[in-house]
Amino acid sequence: MQQELITDIDILEQPNQHTHNRQPTGEIRRTQENAIAGQRKLYIESYGCQMNFSDSEIVVSIMQQHGFGTTSQAEEADLVLLNTCAIREKAEQTIRHRLEELNSLKKRKPALTIGILGCMAERLKAQLLEEEKMVDLVVGPDAYRDLPRLVSQVEDGVRAVNVLLSREETYADITPVRLDSNGVTAFISIMRGCDNMCSFCVVPFTRGRERSRDPQSILAEARQLFEQGYREVTLLGQNVDSYKWAGRANRKETERAQAEGAPVIDFADLLEMVAQIHPDLRVRFSTSHPKDMTDKVLYTMAKYDNICKYIHLPVQSGNDRILALMNRTYTRQWYLERIAAIRRILGEDCGISSDMIAGFCTETEEEHRDTLSLMQLVEYDFSYMFYYSERPGTLAARKYKDDVPIEVKKRRLNEIIALQRELSLKRNQRDIGKIHRVLIEGESKRSKEFLQGRNSANKVVVFPRKHYQKGQYVNVLVHAATAATLLGEVVE
Ligand code: SAH
Ligand code: SF4
Ligand code: F3S
Repeated sequence: MQQELITDIDILEQPNQHTHNRQPTGEIRRTQENAIAGQRKLYIESYGCQMNFSDSEIVVSIMQQHGFGTTSQAEEADLVLLNTCAIREKAEQTIRHRLEELNSLKKRKPALTIGILGCMAERLKAQLLEEEKMVDLVVGPDAYRDLPRLVSQVEDGVRAVNVLLSREETYADITPVRLDSNGVTAFISIMRGCDNMCSFCVVPFTRGRERSRDPQSILAEARQLFEQGYREVTLLGQNVDSYKWAGRANRKETERAQAEGAPVIDFADLLEMVAQIHPDLRVRFSTSHPKDMTDKVLYTMAKYDNICKYIHLPVQSGNDRILALMNRTYTRQWYLERIAAIRRILGEDCGISSDMIAGFCTETEEEHRDTLSLMQLVEYDFSYMFYYSERPGTLAARKYKDDVPIEVKKRRLNEIIALQRELSLKRNQRDIGKIHRVLIEGESKRSKEFLQGRNSANKVVVFPRKHYQKGQYVNVLVHAATAATLLGEVVE
């Protein structure tokens, strides 16, 4: 099982990449205990990408205002919510399996309400409720404000669905209840939805149209986090480079206002405003789209030491015919020019990572080798690698044949993974002998005697604990490297 293999590699070698990217990695997040005596209890499990994890923090905030506390045990809960992912078939299989388990819990505890949120809820709409009778409640990503009403409807014995997508909703005014936080790094959603329509991707259908969040609410959230002791924020969106604000979230209205000459705040402007909050507040962002990543963003990154020098720039394929079928709207040459711009403006040390899809519809052996050769040219520090999984309703599912045999997909994916390991090791070995500024995030996963954090390029750095503490910045001289981690010693 290839997907399993990737997860294993990630867990073995990238213990922290999980929590620091917006990627669907197979990780599951669970709520912890915060209910006070007498409160009704909510338990949420979150799957998929960082955006889903962030949404769960909004959901907990909304439910807290309506009298729910959280619990870490599904068995103790009055309300169990699964915040789900639909990106690949396997993601949905995992959820179905979990729903079966929860339904056997419900047999023992009939008062339990089971709800499904997020992308799979949006994709399947009422199906899980009406046909499969697996849940009491189905709520899509733009309808979380309606949750308290829907939950009480279920308590009155009526199953409830709200999967309306919105062109306005950004939850800008809701302060997320931070779940599973290290107290040092946090994520801030700056936009929702996606207008790109990559042919393989279900996200535009599950998350709706793209909208940007009011920059003042983003700044307020970042400032508040800094005051609470956080030292790093990651600005999140499916395509952060197309962030745009001219007074309204709705993208069409924003473009109209811009055409009429209204002042517009773009992503580079937003990045600068967040960077100016405090030099000790690091700023990261994810994801960048190759077609939209401007030199203006790169120059803004160069101007501020506290904007981390790391860019996640998913390429998906290195072949022009496949890129066109994927509707990525750039070519190999365009992409390589963007990489050259990063190197020109931010230098050789800037971290660059990617997403790859092996075995997309009709991909030939030669086209697959173009992906490998592009990886060699770019020398990625890290990649998230998948084989193509057809998603119902997408452009590719409707127009192209999923004709690469599964064994071939897996073999190609393995070649991509093997090459990435070589490249990661090579890139990490360049860091040996250099001093890296590291923000300490906590104990190393492997030993209490060690701490870990990341350098600007997003690489995990592990070093002896001594008297250092999380939330501090330290300079670490790196003396060894694996494909996943840098090892070193703090220098005063
Ligand atoms: N907005 C981000 C991607 C979000 S989905 C971007 O444009 O890069 C994360 C990754 O999942 C994608 O980059 C892609 O590599 C992978 N992915 C999406 N749909 C997929 C599918 N149907 N099969 C396999 N991988 C897929
Ligand atoms: Fe999906 Fe493409 Fe949008 Fe990313 S940019 S979320 S891959 S449609
Ligand atoms: Fe994220 Fe999965 Fe939805 S990757 S946007 S939770 S389909």
